[in-house]
Amino acid sequence: MNHALGIALFLHLLSVAVWVGGMVFALFCLRPALEDLSPQLRLPLWEAVHKRFFNWIGVAVIVILLTGGYMLMVFGGAGAPWQLNAMAALGSIMMLLFGHIIFVAFPAIRRAVQAQRWPDGARAVVTVRRLVMFNLVLGVLTIGIAVSGRGF
Ligand code: HEM
Repeated sequence: MNHALGIALFLHLLSVAVWVGGMVFALFCLRPALEDLSPQLRLPLWEAVHKRFFNWIGVAVIVILLTGGYMLMVFGGAGAPWQLNAMAALGSIMMLLFGHIIFVAFPAIRRAVQAQRWPDGARAVVTVRRLVMFNLVLGVLTIGIAVSGRGF
């Protein structure tokens, strides 16, 4: 493997770890820990944590796209093994869902917190949770397909 490919794969996997690991943390560690708090405490905290988390994922998504696109080109683009094209397709769906979260669902939470409309905020949080859960399933599937391309 040449240097550029090695660096691209390293950054690709690092970003995947941040994204997928972050979703596991948010869903299975942060969410249950916040569950017993009142909406007045929980929603502003949720918003503050996710604002930072989404910035990290935003960077990870850009790195995954650039490094994945570069590696896919090197491996033959559309003529690359189907697993790589499946990864690109699933990765693109994950990115569209992430876009929907940050441009539609998250602003709804922010507006609800600012206006102190707690029931609206709680509903919007459930929407984001479902989308993140779906993205986590897609992420795990994508990792499985990516690794199966090695053909051991
Ligand atoms: C636009 C999206 C993406 C493109 C174009 C892309 C493309 C690629 C390419 C070309 C490789 C190198 C494969 C090899 O070394 O044989 C790779 C590796 C990998 N990618 Fe992606 N990828 C994308 C998104 C994702 C996402 C969203 C995930 C997981 C959530 C992911 C997980 C992996 C893993 C685990 C590997 C290592 C596979 C291995 O070396 O066995 N990729 N990706």
